[in-house]
Amino acid sequence: MNELSSTMIAPHVTDLSEKGLHITLSDGISYYFNYYWLRDNCPTSFSPITRERSFDIFHLEDSPCARTAEVEGDALVIAWEDEGHVTRMPLDWLVTYAGGNSRIDPADLTRVAWYSDHYPTVPRFSQPELVADKDQRAAWIKAMLVHGFTIVTDMPDSDEGLTQTAELMGFVRPTFFGTYFDVRTHINPTNTAYTSAALELHTDTPAEEFAPGIQFLHCRANTVQGGQSLYADGVAVANDFRARDPEGFKLLSEISIPFFCEHDTYDARSRQTVIELDQHGEVSGLTISQHMADIFDLDQELLDDYYPAFCRFGRMLQEDKYMMRFLMKGGECIVFDNHRIVHGRAAYSATSGDRYLRGCYVDRGEMRSTYRALVSEGRFKG
Ligand SMILES: [Fe+2]
Repeated sequence: MNELSSTMIAPHVTDLSEKGLHITLSDGISYYFNYYWLRDNCPTSFSPITRERSFDIFHLEDSPCARTAEVEGDALVIAWEDEGHVTRMPLDWLVTYAGGNSRIDPADLTRVAWYSDHYPTVPRFSQPELVADKDQRAAWIKAMLVHGFTIVTDMPDSDEGLTQTAELMGFVRPTFFGTYFDVRTHINPTNTAYTSAALELHTDTPAEEFAPGIQFLHCRANTVQGGQSLYADGVAVANDFRARDPEGFKLLSEISIPFFCEHDTYDARSRQTVIELDQHGEVSGLTISQHMADIFDLDQELLDDYYPAFCRFGRMLQEDKYMMRFLMKGGECIVFDNHRIVHGRAAYSATSGDRYLRGCYVDRGEMRSTYRALVSEGRFKG
């Protein structure tokens, strides 16, 4: 067989079995498709109005089974036993999902790690341009998915400015702080952030069962002495940790530890792995906070290994190679992935001026949803 004929296979059904069928597609490979899957995903199973599946597979009287199935033009045509229904399944659709492939996700982008010298090249976006321009919003969210850290400039000097900016990305996600929080020095602080002390690198509210995803910090004033913002990319550190300390990486990515956060009216608790992996096994983030780590309830002999690994990683996070330092300016909003970027603050002199940040959160899933809607047409083209 010459090369030309091997690439010119006419798609054809080769076998109808009890639970599914085999079809040879134009790549010359025989693929198996289950009858339930074919029937459930018949193009007629979906409503273009609601954009949801309208077919109810739970109420089929018998297991779906093909009476006949053959290729006609660019579709696989199946006449079903018992039901009197005919499915016309486009062949290119079968090629896309053959072998159990997932739907392509435009928000599943490769992360780019960044290091201490990142500040001058941090992606920056002007708030009024984000409000006015859909393409700017898509570029902003893409930068968040890839780098996990952006700066929005030209923020309105108002409480509403923060909410308006966050809502460009998704719904504001409340926490036990409420729908927003103010970071300034408090007389009776309920949180280290509300003092002028140094704040070690951490991710926020790890004690929530589902910690908030994207953090917005709108700087309304910053004229104090000190108080440099500190940020490090958890993906950069954890990827290097994986190479430097594979055993430690395994412990921190596989074993969950408890976190807590309590005061008079709340007592949040959860378990998280310090290093988070995505569906590809790549590092997608961190959960770490010394001031909210609860009593480690692992086997005490496991702690012989876990604690040193935890400390090795914690020290690595603070290496100069990773630590981006800068002073926030009034009118800027720092936007970062709270599951990926660790943040902290140097101590400052509370009497030397004003330091006032207002913050809120949006969940990661909301951000990805908004991005997909901005850059793709989804399954139901108009
Ligand atoms: Fe924080």
